Amino acid sequence: MALKIVSTAAQKRFPTRHGWMTAIERFDLEVEEGEFVCVVGPSGCGKSTFLRILAGLDHVTGGDVRIVPGPDPSQPLNNVVFQEYAVFPWKSVLDNVAFGLEMRGVGRSQRYERARQWLAKVGLTRFEDYYPGQLSGGMKQRVSIARALTNDPQVLLMDEPLGALDAQTRTVLQEELLTIWEESRKTVVYITHSIEEAVFLADRVVIMTAHPGRVKEEFRVDLPRPRDLSTMATPAFAALTGAVWEALRDEVTRAMAAQA
Ligand SMILES: Nc1ncnc2c1ncn2[C@@H]1O[C@H](COP(=O)(O)OP(=O)(O)OP(=O)(O)O)[C@@H](O)[C@H]1O
Ligand SMILES: [Mg+2]
Repeated sequence: MALKIVSTAAQKRFPTRHGWMTAIERFDLEVEEGEFVCVVGPSGCGKSTFLRILAGLDHVTGGDVRIVPGPDPSQPLNNVVFQEYAVFPWKSVLDNVAFGLEMRGVGRSQRYERARQWLAKVGLTRFEDYYPGQLSGGMKQRVSIARALTNDPQVLLMDEPLGALDAQTRTVLQEELLTIWEESRKTVVYITHSIEEAVFLADRVVIMTAHPGRVKEEFRVDLPRPRDLSTMATPAFAALTGAVWEALRDEVTRAMAAQA
């Protein structure tokens, strides 16, 4: 059976001091194997909530969210890359990247070999003996990304992975990420606040409504691949980001009014 992500009428409610708070409601989404889907939506609309449920870190209170696994049972189902650098400060870069394989009992030489391959792809070969405290934010996030990819999950889940970085580092990492993705064509669900980032990376951009979150609209991004920075200078790119922003603007305004 082919790998697939299916969310059907997903609902998540949290108990609060003022009663139940509905974070997502009637959330429907399907992601096909090999698809790169970006999710954008106003702050607080439930993006991280949905991703945590997909990752198995939380449960729905209604409906159904599942990753239908592909045929290879030895592959872990998913790996998450968060905005905050989720690296172990007491482990070297190499050991951080090899961590998932270590947990799965892969022998030392084999896991280091695979970790080194990914470290090379994210440009950190010279830093394998460093500790996270000796790295910049961008480098730490490269470590997180290399760690997730070394683990070779069926699905890669990313929650604003470049959100904490400065604009230049972010642009460089967006391009790196695309180059890596072109090779692996892994199934990715990627949350971002940046419309440009979403259109640049994705096959499909999913827009969520303001709280409670559900899918408002989807845009297929048919910009040719491989993409690079020159893609962002094309009229087609400008037209798509404009259309996404049109769809998102009302939701952002509604979210801000509700939170005021
Ligand atoms: N554990 C929790 N308990 C209670 N409410 C929660 C919990 N986690 C999230 N929420 C609420 O659910 C809603 C959605 O939160 P979530 O973090 O998913 O939003 P988001 O879209 O990721 O926002 P941002 O773009 O700011 O990261 C928010 O109103 C938040 O307060
Ligand atoms: Mg979030």
